[in-house]
Amino acid sequence: MNYIDQKFPSSRFRRTRKNEKIRNLVSETSISASDFIWPVFICDGDNVEQNVPSMPGVKRRSVDRLVQAASEAFDLGIPAICLFPYTDHSLKTKDCAEAWNPDNLSNKATRAIKKAVPELIVMSDVALDPYNIDGHDGFVENGKIVNDKTVEALVKQALSQAVSGIDVIGPSDMMDGRIGAIRSALEKNGHNEVGIMSYSAKYSSSFYGPFRDAVGASGALTGDKKTYQMDIANSNEALRLVARDLKEGADMVMIKPGMPYLDICRRVKDEFGVPTFAYQVSGEYAMLSAAFENDWLDRNKIIIETLMAFKRSGCDGILTYFAPEAAKLLK
Ligand code: PBG
Repeated sequence: MNYIDQKFPSSRFRRTRKNEKIRNLVSETSISASDFIWPVFICDGDNVEQNVPSMPGVKRRSVDRLVQAASEAFDLGIPAICLFPYTDHSLKTKDCAEAWNPDNLSNKATRAIKKAVPELIVMSDVALDPYNIDGHDGFVENGKIVNDKTVEALVKQALSQAVSGIDVIGPSDMMDGRIGAIRSALEKNGHNEVGIMSYSAKYSSSFYGPFRDAVGASGALTGDKKTYQMDIANSNEALRLVARDLKEGADMVMIKPGMPYLDICRRVKDEFGVPTFAYQVSGEYAMLSAAFENDWLDRNKIIIETLMAFKRSGCDGILTYFAPEAAKLLK
């Protein structure tokens, strides 16, 4: 493509901007509620809603309340939600057994939502951090996060989610070999329709802070996650991880965090052309919310502008805490 073949006045870009109709006609990207996955937090109890202080407007909900919220989201045109349990401290252990308890919060919520709103796609998180007394995504032995033993546990966790009726499994743990192990266990156990959206390019980011409060993992965490999550300096490595996960059986891939990593989204989409997602994470939500609360940014316009940026950079969809609000704005 030759970008400089036309000179003023034969080229006047303002011709295709002169009114809304023509702007819409030539627009390259569109966004709608069907692009959203809504991450939600679950807590124990009946009829409970708790605010997450570092994420104004975001709530933890008991399963009954969550079912109600999920059904409202579905009515707004949101196709998918992603479950994150707030696990009581008493259930956090060294062996993380609560992660594959058929009656843990995540599995209970999956069954209840699939019963009430069968068409809503329910996605889960595979990682040990909500259940781990050490707060890490993997088992800690002698101060190190052990890979292969963790993968065995992740497989058990994924299978318990599949039995509960999950549609899409989202391994966010960043252990090596987990996608292949989970995929073959799903196949062997008759769950061949369960999808995997791999958190393939998940960076060791400080933008996850508010999330760790929301799931009650921040207090437990010792040290950082740099030995398993990606170095923020790397970009080629993201492509190698995506290639590896696709080969091991991932159906969709994710880049995380979102807005600071749009360069990675574009590279992944251009290189592989596979279903590509980004996660607009808790810290991004908190940062924007703080500016909205101070009237420093226009809430409605900025929400849409950030989500459009993901689509423009090649993402097919976005995990965003703004999903219900954005869906209403787009109606
Ligand atoms: C857990 C997990 C995290 C997020 C999603 N799954 C936190 C982490 O890796 O520490 C972050 C989501 C967010 O910040 O919104 N493995």
